[in-house]
Amino acid sequence: MSQARCHAMLPLLASLVLGACGEAAPPAELQVAGGDAGRGRLAIAEHGCGACHVIPGIPGAVSWVGPPLMEWARRSYVGGRLPNAPQNLVAFLLDPQAISPGSAMPDLALREAEALDIAAYLYTLGRAPAVPPGQPLAPGEAGTQPEPRLRPRFDRPAQ
Ligand code: HEC
Repeated sequence: MSQARCHAMLPLLASLVLGACGEAAPPAELQVAGGDAGRGRLAIAEHGCGACHVIPGIPGAVSWVGPPLMEWARRSYVGGRLPNAPQNLVAFLLDPQAISPGSAMPDLALREAEALDIAAYLYTLGRAPAVPPGQPLAPGEAGTQPEPRLRPRFDRPAQ
């Protein structure tokens, strides 16, 4: 293959690799205005979120004290309380107790800009499912398997 053709394929390869990692750009409703995912990744590392959470892409973030934050863009609720949307996630990060009274998630005294950046990073993890979680299968859709009650949540191979 000529070098020019090979270079032409690089963006395609990059998009395949990014897609495979589940870190493609989030859909419009999960875009965080004013947040920067790159800075967010650094802020997550600085604030030690990985001491309590599994967070893909953050070295050492492999703890199970709190819920894993993998596939965050696919989560339905923030703190089990509010619909998972950027403004709700940012509000939770800034004051977890206000959203989820009695929550074991500490108030890490984040600045608002840091919370926006962190939210932007978390929404790069996973993508909104094509079918909302929990939607029942249509008759016959389960194929030869015994019919499950709910559509399986994970439609991609484990990372
Ligand atoms: C001392 C442990 C601890 C630290 C440090 C911590 N968290 Fe948490 N976090 C928790 C616990 C426990 C919960 C579950 C409580 C809840 O949902 O109200 C939680 C919940 C969350 C949730 C909601 C999860 C869900 O499933 O709804 C998000 C998002 C989150 N944390 C992000 C962060 C970020 C970002 C940081 C760093 C800035 C961080 N956490 C630091 C313990 C921690």
